[in-house]
Amino acid sequence: MSRKALIAANWKMNGSAALVKEMTNTLQSLAISAVDVLLCPPATLLTRFAPSSQFALGAQTLSHETSGAFTGELSAQLLSEAGARFVIVGHSERRSLNFETDGLVAAKLATAVAAGLTPLLCVGESLAERQQEKTQQVIARQLDAVYASQPELLAKSVIAYEPIWAIGTGESASPEQAQQTHAFIRAHLAQYDATAAAAVRILYGGSVNAENCAALFAQADIDGALVGGASLKPAEFAQICLAA
Ligand code: G3H
Repeated sequence: MSRKALIAANWKMNGSAALVKEMTNTLQSLAISAVDVLLCPPATLLTRFAPSSQFALGAQTLSHETSGAFTGELSAQLLSEAGARFVIVGHSERRSLNFETDGLVAAKLATAVAAGLTPLLCVGESLAERQQEKTQQVIARQLDAVYASQPELLAKSVIAYEPIWAIGTGESASPEQAQQTHAFIRAHLAQYDATAAAAVRILYGGSVNAENCAALFAQADIDGALVGGASLKPAEFAQICLAA
Protein backbone atom coordinates (compact mmCIF):
# COMPACT_ATOMS: atom_id res chain seq x y z
CA MET A 1 0.00 0.00 0.00
CA SER A 2 1.66 3.25 -1.04
CA ARG A 3 -0.84 5.44 0.80
CA LYS A 4 -0.98 5.44 4.61
CA ALA A 5 -3.78 3.13 5.66
CA LEU A 6 -6.82 4.48 7.48
CA ILE A 7 -8.91 2.19 9.65
CA ALA A 8 -12.24 3.78 10.54
CA ALA A 9 -14.82 2.57 13.04
CA ASN A 10 -18.47 3.37 12.40
CA TRP A 11 -20.37 2.55 15.56
CA LYS A 12 -23.68 3.52 13.92
CA MET A 13 -26.40 3.83 16.63
CA ASN A 14 -24.44 1.66 19.05
CA GLY A 15 -21.92 2.13 21.80
CA SER A 16 -21.93 3.72 25.23
CA ALA A 17 -19.76 5.74 27.55
CA ALA A 18 -18.39 2.42 28.79
CA LEU A 19 -17.37 1.42 25.27
CA VAL A 20 -15.61 4.77 24.84
CA LYS A 21 -13.45 3.92 27.83
CA GLU A 22 -12.85 0.36 26.74
CA MET A 23 -11.89 1.33 23.19
CA THR A 24 -9.66 4.16 24.41
CA ASN A 25 -7.83 1.87 26.82
CA THR A 26 -7.39 -0.81 24.17
CA LEU A 27 -6.02 1.53 21.52
CA GLN A 28 -3.77 3.38 23.93
CA SER A 29 -2.19 0.13 25.05
CA LEU A 30 -1.02 -0.50 21.49
CA ALA A 31 1.69 1.30 19.57
CA ILE A 32 -0.26 1.95 16.39
CA SER A 33 1.70 4.35 14.22
CA ALA A 34 1.78 2.65 10.84
CA VAL A 35 -1.88 3.39 10.24
CA ASP A 36 -4.29 6.22 10.95
CA VAL A 37 -7.18 5.22 13.20
CA LEU A 38 -10.54 7.00 13.14
CA LEU A 39 -13.46 6.45 15.50
CA CYS A 40 -16.97 7.58 14.48
CA PRO A 41 -19.24 7.06 17.51
CA PRO A 42 -22.73 8.51 17.85
CA ALA A 43 -22.35 12.30 18.06
CA THR A 44 -23.40 12.36 21.72
CA LEU A 45 -20.32 10.33 22.61
CA LEU A 46 -17.77 12.51 20.82
CA THR A 47 -17.10 14.65 23.87
CA ARG A 48 -16.66 11.56 26.05
CA PHE A 49 -13.34 10.94 24.32
CA ALA A 50 -10.32 12.71 25.73
CA PRO A 51 -8.01 14.16 23.07
CA SER A 52 -5.74 11.35 21.91
CA SER A 53 -2.76 11.03 19.62
CA GLN A 54 -3.73 7.39 19.04
CA PHE A 55 -6.83 8.10 16.99
CA ALA A 56 -8.96 10.78 15.37
CA LEU A 57 -12.70 11.28 15.85
CA GLY A 58 -15.40 11.58 13.24
CA ALA A 59 -19.14 12.06 13.00
CA GLN A 60 -21.52 9.80 11.09
CA THR A 61 -23.40 12.55 9.25
CA LEU A 62 -23.91 16.31 9.28
CA SER A 63 -26.38 18.91 8.08
CA HIS A 64 -25.73 20.56 4.76
CA GLU A 65 -26.81 23.80 6.41
CA THR A 66 -24.45 25.81 8.55
CA SER A 67 -26.95 26.97 11.21
CA GLY A 68 -30.57 27.86 11.72
CA ALA A 69 -33.98 26.38 12.48
CA PHE A 70 -33.23 22.73 11.69
CA THR A 71 -34.45 20.81 14.72
CA GLY A 72 -32.34 17.80 15.54
CA GLU A 73 -29.65 18.52 12.98
CA LEU A 74 -25.95 19.01 13.71
CA SER A 75 -23.75 21.38 11.76
CA ALA A 76 -20.16 20.80 10.77
CA GLN A 77 -19.07 23.48 13.20
CA LEU A 78 -20.91 21.88 16.13
CA LEU A 79 -19.35 18.52 15.29
CA SER A 80 -15.96 20.11 14.98
CA GLU A 81 -16.33 21.76 18.38
CA ALA A 82 -17.27 18.35 19.81
CA GLY A 83 -13.94 16.97 18.58
CA ALA A 84 -14.71 15.58 15.13
CA ARG A 85 -12.09 16.00 12.41
CA PHE A 86 -13.82 13.69 9.92
CA VAL A 87 -17.41 13.04 8.94
CA ILE A 88 -19.00 10.14 7.07
CA VAL A 89 -21.11 11.37 4.14
CA GLY A 90 -23.52 9.36 2.02
CA HIS A 91 -23.50 6.11 3.95
CA SER A 92 -25.95 3.73 2.28
CA GLU A 93 -28.05 3.64 5.44
CA ARG A 94 -28.46 7.44 5.22
CA ARG A 95 -29.20 7.21 1.50
CA SER A 96 -31.88 4.55 1.93
CA LEU A 97 -33.35 5.15 5.40
CA ASN A 98 -33.09 8.94 5.43
CA PHE A 99 -33.69 9.45 1.71
CA GLU A 100 -30.42 11.28 1.11
CA THR A 101 -30.09 11.99 -2.59
CA ASP A 102 -26.87 12.29 -4.59
CA GLY A 103 -27.40 16.05 -4.61
CA LEU A 104 -27.78 16.27 -0.86
CA VAL A 105 -24.68 14.12 -0.38
CA ALA A 106 -22.73 16.49 -2.62
CA ALA A 107 -23.94 19.50 -0.62
CA LYS A 108 -23.05 17.83 2.68
CA LEU A 109 -19.58 17.01 1.46
CA ALA A 110 -18.98 20.61 0.41
CA THR A 111 -20.27 21.87 3.76
CA ALA A 112 -17.93 19.52 5.59
CA VAL A 113 -14.87 20.65 3.67
CA ALA A 114 -15.79 24.32 4.08
CA ALA A 115 -15.83 23.79 7.85
CA GLY A 116 -12.47 22.02 7.88
CA LEU A 117 -13.78 18.48 8.31
CA THR A 118 -12.47 15.65 6.15
CA PRO A 119 -15.42 13.92 4.46
CA LEU A 120 -15.46 10.17 4.11
CA LEU A 121 -17.70 9.63 1.09
CA CYS A 122 -19.44 6.25 0.90
CA VAL A 123 -20.40 4.72 -2.43
CA GLY A 124 -21.62 1.26 -3.32
CA GLU A 125 -24.14 -0.83 -5.18
CA SER A 126 -27.06 -2.97 -4.06
CA LEU A 127 -27.21 -6.70 -4.69
CA ALA A 128 -29.70 -6.21 -7.52
CA GLU A 129 -27.45 -3.63 -9.15
CA ARG A 130 -24.46 -5.98 -8.94
CA GLN A 131 -26.50 -8.82 -10.40
CA GLN A 132 -27.53 -6.55 -13.26
CA GLU A 133 -23.84 -5.68 -13.78
CA LYS A 134 -24.52 -2.05 -12.92
CA THR A 135 -21.90 -1.73 -10.18
CA GLN A 136 -19.63 0.65 -12.09
CA GLN A 137 -22.54 2.65 -13.46
CA VAL A 138 -23.97 3.23 -9.98
CA ILE A 139 -20.65 4.16 -8.46
CA ALA A 140 -19.77 6.49 -11.33
CA ARG A 141 -23.09 8.26 -10.80
CA GLN A 142 -22.45 8.62 -7.06
CA LEU A 143 -18.92 9.97 -7.63
CA ASP A 144 -19.91 12.29 -10.47
CA ALA A 145 -22.71 13.78 -8.37
CA VAL A 146 -20.10 14.99 -5.90
CA TYR A 147 -16.99 15.74 -7.91
CA ALA A 148 -18.12 16.75 -11.42
CA SER A 149 -19.06 20.22 -10.22
CA GLN A 150 -16.52 20.47 -7.40
CA PRO A 151 -13.42 18.48 -8.42
CA GLU A 152 -11.23 20.47 -6.05
CA LEU A 153 -12.86 18.65 -3.13
CA LEU A 154 -11.40 15.29 -4.14
CA ALA A 155 -7.98 16.15 -2.71
CA LYS A 156 -9.66 16.76 0.66
CA SER A 157 -11.74 13.57 0.70
CA VAL A 158 -11.54 9.94 1.70
CA ILE A 159 -13.66 7.46 -0.27
CA ALA A 160 -15.23 4.29 1.11
CA TYR A 161 -16.47 1.55 -1.19
CA GLU A 162 -19.26 -0.26 0.63
CA PRO A 163 -21.24 -2.79 -1.39
CA ILE A 164 -24.65 -2.69 0.27
CA TRP A 165 -25.00 -6.46 0.05
CA ALA A 166 -21.89 -6.85 2.21
CA ILE A 167 -22.90 -4.49 5.01
CA GLY A 168 -23.79 -6.29 8.19
CA THR A 169 -24.33 -9.58 6.39
CA GLY A 170 -21.15 -11.41 7.33
CA GLU A 171 -20.50 -11.77 3.61
CA SER A 172 -17.61 -9.50 2.64
CA ALA A 173 -16.75 -8.83 -0.97
CA SER A 174 -13.85 -11.01 -1.97
CA PRO A 175 -10.48 -9.24 -2.10
CA GLU A 176 -10.57 -9.55 -5.89
CA GLN A 177 -14.09 -8.12 -6.17
CA ALA A 178 -13.17 -5.24 -3.90
CA GLN A 179 -9.89 -4.52 -5.69
CA GLN A 180 -11.63 -4.47 -9.05
CA THR A 181 -14.08 -1.82 -7.86
CA HIS A 182 -11.43 0.19 -5.99
CA ALA A 183 -9.32 0.30 -9.16
CA PHE A 184 -12.38 1.46 -11.09
CA ILE A 185 -13.05 4.21 -8.54
CA ARG A 186 -9.46 5.47 -8.70
CA ALA A 187 -9.44 5.44 -12.50
CA HIS A 188 -12.80 7.19 -12.66
CA LEU A 189 -11.66 9.89 -10.24
CA ALA A 190 -8.52 10.50 -12.28
CA GLN A 191 -10.60 12.29 -14.88
CA TYR A 192 -11.17 15.03 -12.31
CA ASP A 193 -7.69 15.24 -10.82
CA ALA A 194 -5.12 12.57 -11.60
CA THR A 195 -2.80 13.57 -8.76
CA ALA A 196 -5.58 13.61 -6.20
CA ALA A 197 -6.96 10.29 -7.49
CA ALA A 198 -3.59 8.63 -7.04
CA ALA A 199 -3.32 9.96 -3.49
CA VAL A 200 -6.90 9.56 -2.26
CA ARG A 201 -7.46 6.82 0.29
CA ILE A 202 -10.15 4.36 -0.76
CA LEU A 203 -11.40 2.26 2.15
CA TYR A 204 -13.35 -0.97 1.85
CA GLY A 205 -16.41 -1.49 4.06
CA GLY A 206 -18.77 -4.44 4.42
CA SER A 207 -18.35 -7.24 6.97
CA VAL A 208 -14.67 -6.55 7.57
CA ASN A 209 -13.37 -8.58 10.49
CA ALA A 210 -10.13 -9.80 12.01
CA GLU A 211 -10.13 -12.88 9.79
CA ASN A 212 -10.71 -11.34 6.37
CA CYS A 213 -8.98 -7.98 6.73
CA ALA A 214 -5.40 -8.96 5.84
CA ALA A 215 -6.37 -10.32 2.42
CA LEU A 216 -8.31 -7.14 1.70
CA PHE A 217 -5.44 -4.92 2.82
CA ALA A 218 -3.07 -6.82 0.53
CA GLN A 219 -4.85 -5.40 -2.51
CA ALA A 220 -3.15 -2.53 -4.34
CA ASP A 221 -6.03 -0.06 -4.23
CA ILE A 222 -7.46 -0.88 -0.79
CA ASP A 223 -6.15 1.70 1.64
CA GLY A 224 -7.91 0.62 4.79
CA ALA A 225 -11.36 -0.20 6.03
CA LEU A 226 -14.61 1.28 7.28
CA VAL A 227 -15.62 -1.17 9.97
CA GLY A 228 -19.11 -1.47 11.41
CA GLY A 229 -19.98 -4.44 13.59
CA ALA A 230 -16.41 -5.49 14.35
CA SER A 231 -15.57 -1.97 15.52
CA LEU A 232 -17.82 -2.51 18.55
CA LYS A 233 -15.38 -5.11 19.83
CA PRO A 234 -12.22 -3.23 20.85
CA ALA A 235 -9.93 -6.26 20.76
CA GLU A 236 -11.05 -7.22 17.26
CA PHE A 237 -10.92 -3.64 16.00
CA ALA A 238 -7.36 -3.39 17.34
CA GLN A 239 -6.46 -6.57 15.46
CA ILE A 240 -7.79 -5.02 12.26
CA CYS A 241 -5.72 -1.89 12.87
CA LEU A 242 -2.60 -3.95 13.45
CA ALA A 243 -3.19 -5.97 10.27
CA ALA A 244 -3.24 -2.93 8.00
O1 G3H B 1 -19.87 1.84 7.94
C1 G3H B 1 -19.65 0.63 8.05
C2 G3H B 1 -20.25 -0.32 7.18
O2 G3H B 1 -21.59 -0.07 6.95
C3 G3H B 1 -19.89 -1.74 7.39
O3 G3H B 1 -20.64 -2.33 8.42
O4 G3H B 1 -18.80 -3.90 9.07
O5 G3H B 1 -21.09 -4.09 10.05
O6 G3H B 1 -20.67 -4.69 7.66
P1 G3H B 1 -20.30 -3.86 8.83
